[in-house]
Amino acid sequence: MISETLQNAINEQIKAELDSSYLYLAMAAWCESVNFKGFAKWFEKQAEEENAHAKRFYEYLVDRGGRVILKGLDTPPADFGSVEKAFQQTLDHERHVTARINKIYDMARNEKDFATQEMLNWFVKEQVEEEATAEEMLAQTRMAEGRPGNLLYLDRHAGKRGDA
Ligand SMILES: [Fe+2]
Ligand SMILES: [Fe+2]
Repeated sequence: MISETLQNAINEQIKAELDSSYLYLAMAAWCESVNFKGFAKWFEKQAEEENAHAKRFYEYLVDRGGRVILKGLDTPPADFGSVEKAFQQTLDHERHVTARINKIYDMARNEKDFATQEMLNWFVKEQVEEEATAEEMLAQTRMAEGRPGNLLYLDRHAGKRGDA
């Protein structure tokens, strides 16, 4: 059985993952509103991944005999200003999530809860990917700044995310 401290931390993390999903869905909706269909699709995929992360924590908590308690989500912004700014916010957000996961890892280590550490290893690796992807998208959109043709090219490319 999982400790109450870790149970609370994982419940907070379920909320954080769903907040991430909600934030990226808001970015997708904003991209739609300015006709960047490709970036919109990219953010939709990102939102789906965050839902899967929440589900992963949810299932782990159930498996460990913990109680899942859902919390209200934060209202995301409706306007992101530019695609570049949206990716800057994506990177900042992913860094924030990494810090949260590291904190839970530290708690699990102090408690000698090896199962939770093992579960979190997947997330530690996933966050390396998440930050790298956000950094890449930010760098590319930054390079396309002031060049609408390049930004449209990136939009089309981003829309292919997840296609084989
Ligand atoms: Fe996540
Ligand atoms: Fe993420």
